Amino acid sequence: MAASPLDITRRPIGVFDSGIGGLTVARAVSRVLPHEQLVYFGDTAHLPYGDKSTAAIQAYSIKICDLLLKQHCKVILIACNSASAAAYELVREYVGSKARVLNVIDPIVAHIGSAYANRTIGLIGTKQTVNSNVYKKKIDDLDAGVELRSLATPLLAPMIEEGFFRNSISDNIIRTYLSNPLLDEIGALVLACTHYPLIQEQIKEFYQDRVAVLDASDVVASHVKDYLDGQGLAAKAAKTPPRHQFYVSDFTRSFEESTRIFFGQEVHLEHYPLWE
Ligand code: DGL
Repeated sequence: MAASPLDITRRPIGVFDSGIGGLTVARAVSRVLPHEQLVYFGDTAHLPYGDKSTAAIQAYSIKICDLLLKQHCKVILIACNSASAAAYELVREYVGSKARVLNVIDPIVAHIGSAYANRTIGLIGTKQTVNSNVYKKKIDDLDAGVELRSLATPLLAPMIEEGFFRNSISDNIIRTYLSNPLLDEIGALVLACTHYPLIQEQIKEFYQDRVAVLDASDVVASHVKDYLDGQGLAAKAAKTPPRHQFYVSDFTRSFEESTRIFFGQEVHLEHYPLWE
C-alpha cells in the first residue's frame, strides 16, 4: 500500500462497481478531472449486483470500502446504481470522516429536479435499483412535481457485457422494453445503470428526439468535479499524468478485454481477491 500523502488533494478517488461496467463512470470522471488519480475496484466475483439482496450488496460494499480506505482515497464514489441504492447510507456511516462518499443517484435526482420539474420522467435499471424505489423516494422529496415511471430491464446489462449492442438482437430487446406502456408519454429517460451509456445511441434512435436520454455518467462526473472544487479537494496539475489502478475480485481475460468497451481503451486489471 502506498504511504498516505499529507496533502489530501493528492490522494486518489476510489471508484467501485459490481464489475467493469462502472468504468463508464470512471471514464467520464477522468475526462472532466484529468489530474485525479483513480483507484477502481470491480467486484467481478459477485457480478451481477442487480439480482442480489440488499444485505449481500451492503456486505460486499463495506469490504470494498476497506480496501479503498487502505489506499487512502479521499473520496469513494459508488459507481454502481444497484450498490448506490442498497448501500450508500450504510457505507457513509461506516466510512465516517475517513473519506467522503458519493453515489450515482443524487446527482441525477438533482438534475431532474432542476431541469424537469412538473414533467413525467422514465427510468430503466436493474431489479435492485428499481425495486428499491430509491429514485422515487428522492425525487418525491424534491417536491418538484416530477412523476417517475421506473422499469426494471434486467436483460440489458448481461446483453451488453456479452458484446450485444449496436446489432439487431439488442435493437429488438431494447425496443421491446421501451415499448412498455409504462414509459408512454415520458419527457426524458434516465439510464440508471452503469452499462447503459453503451446503448445510449440505440435508445436515442428508438425515441427519434421525442425524449431526452439522460446518461447519468456525465451528470455524475460533473457533480464530482463541482464537489471537489467546492470542498478544496481537487488535485493540481502534475508533470506526469496520474497512474490509475484497476482491481477486480475475480480475473478473467474476457473482463480485461471488455474494459475497452467500457473505458474506451483496454486497461490492465489487477486481481485482488478480497474474498479469499
Ligand atoms: N453496475 C450495475 C448497476 O449499475 C449493473 C450490473 C449489475 O447488475 O451488477 O446497477
